[in-house]
Amino acid sequence: MARSDLPGGRPPVTSRKGKVAVVGAGFYGSTTAQRLAEYDIFEEVVLTDIRDGWAEGLALDLNQSRPVEGFETKVTGQTTGPNGEGYEALAGASIVVITAGLPRKPGMSRMDLIEVNAKIVRQVAENVAKHAPEAVLIVVSNPLDEMTALAAKVSQFPSSRVLGQAGMLDTARFSYFVATKLGVPVGSVRTLTLGSHGDTMVPVPSACTVDGKPLDSLLPADEIEALVTRTRNGGGEVVALLKTGSAYYAPSAAAARMARAVAEDSGAVMPVCAWVDGEYGISGVYLGVEAEIGASGVRRVVERDLTDSEVAGLRAAAEAVRAKQADVAAL
Ligand code: LAC
Repeated sequence: MARSDLPGGRPPVTSRKGKVAVVGAGFYGSTTAQRLAEYDIFEEVVLTDIRDGWAEGLALDLNQSRPVEGFETKVTGQTTGPNGEGYEALAGASIVVITAGLPRKPGMSRMDLIEVNAKIVRQVAENVAKHAPEAVLIVVSNPLDEMTALAAKVSQFPSSRVLGQAGMLDTARFSYFVATKLGVPVGSVRTLTLGSHGDTMVPVPSACTVDGKPLDSLLPADEIEALVTRTRNGGGEVVALLKTGSAYYAPSAAAARMARAVAEDSGAVMPVCAWVDGEYGISGVYLGVEAEIGASGVRRVVERDLTDSEVAGLRAAAEAVRAKQADVAAL
């Protein structure tokens, strides 16, 4: 008899636990919520938005996909108000992904969003800290490094419990470009980007391999440089095509993987925006570095051997972020 593809009928998974919240139900937030729900490892995914009924509508829609996709994670939508109304839905969340803020329009840099998004992220972080005081915060709002620093400051959470998503995305973009250039599966490519999620992004060709072979043995330096440049502008390239918003499939994949590493206390080492305290001779700044991720957030920053020019790039990125972080605190 032919197998039925009608919805329902999957065996139940019993290890689902915990609550993860996503603040902001734009494309980035809603696709992150979808990925988290489809992992089917959480009891509940909470999605919030300031537009009346929007998050509730998306949650209802996502819940209706459950019989087809076969996941039992419950999705809850919640409208939030300007004075913190609705944030009680976050109570008990062990992870909160902050996507609130405006995306770029064509021609804008991420830094052009700093004033408007600082106000939004400040208000969100205050409310999140009040209602989910034990949560690990994963910030994705732009400009990323500065918004992560702001969320840490406003929430007053330990710095290890606040991290930002950028390196996973930039690394994914770099890997995709390398795979496409060489005509190999994306799964055979390993790349790495550190530094900021912006002009001072530091792709690390010395850590890049294809089927275990160093990238620089497969491509000439100028072609690697062209891929690096495309990676650095990877978000802008999507914005220029979309015209009305920024990327969300790859960004949400990256953010959801980070949340999953926290939920599963996996110890996965990922490039993330983390508080750096002495590593690479850099201190007192949120910066893209590799870190071991677990239930408590960043367990430790993982330092690797970098070439002198890569370290110099990382230090330049740190100083650029440090200068802006100070501005942001006053916004
Ligand atoms: C990007 C935005 C989300 O890089 O920062 O696509």
